[in-house]
Amino acid sequence: MLKNVLLEAVEAGAKVIQYYFNTKNLQISNKEGAYNPVTEADTASEKAIFEVIRKHYPTHFILSEESGEMHQESEYKWIIDPIDGTVNFAQGIPVCCVSIAVEKNGEIIMGAVFNPFMNELYFAEKGKGATLNGESIKVTQKADLNKACIATGFPYNYVESENDPLTSIGKFIKSGISVRRLGSAALDLCWVAAGRLDAYYEHKIHSWDGAAGYIIVKEAGGKVTDFANNEYSVYQPSIVASNTILHDAMLTKIHQ
Ligand code: IPD
Repeated sequence: MLKNVLLEAVEAGAKVIQYYFNTKNLQISNKEGAYNPVTEADTASEKAIFEVIRKHYPTHFILSEESGEMHQESEYKWIIDPIDGTVNFAQGIPVCCVSIAVEKNGEIIMGAVFNPFMNELYFAEKGKGATLNGESIKVTQKADLNKACIATGFPYNYVESENDPLTSIGKFIKSGISVRRLGSAALDLCWVAAGRLDAYYEHKIHSWDGAAGYIIVKEAGGKVTDFANNEYSVYQPSIVASNTILHDAMLTKIHQ
């Protein structure tokens, strides 16, 4: 039942974002940062997702990027990004998705990420593996970081500090490592799970960016931690996801 509702919700959001994609005169406003758009598609996708969840589970807690926390006393929390990769979406770049995770008693137990523009639906349930369009996926077996292809992302509000995002990306680039910036943390994580990327890291993401991708990477055999090598928690900002083999090397490079 939970799985069906999750899939129904992610598909409802995806239908909405497909409808708005590349439409003329898309209504866009800006959140904090120079270009941190929120479009009418973000709010419409969120509404469609809420309708599905509330129809089946009216008492569950919901946390969503645009509406924030809708607190309810429940062991279940839905963590929703109605469009992850909103800059891409607003630019007509089809690298964006709907991302939804289900947390039970503080633990992420299920996640779904749907990029309707590539017709790719990623899903994972704790202990049951990860899939892309129903087919099992696994992380890569690469063991040499110098031959890896990794991804990262950057915060909307850049704060210069010791070992900030520009410093860390410089270390990878200077080593000749291939670094991508896709613009969607949820897809970065799913692409690690699917073996397209060997690793991904980012200094500052939000719970809704990382929650579903986290369990998808884990169930595909990967490792996901914060920068201090603690198991990743969606309630803190840093994230490193890898094929497991490269994890220590990734952390060492970031902290070098
Ligand atoms: C953003 C994207 C981006 C990442 C940012 C996120 P949004 O989410 O995932 O890749 O670098 O940290 O905030 O704003 O498109 O939902």
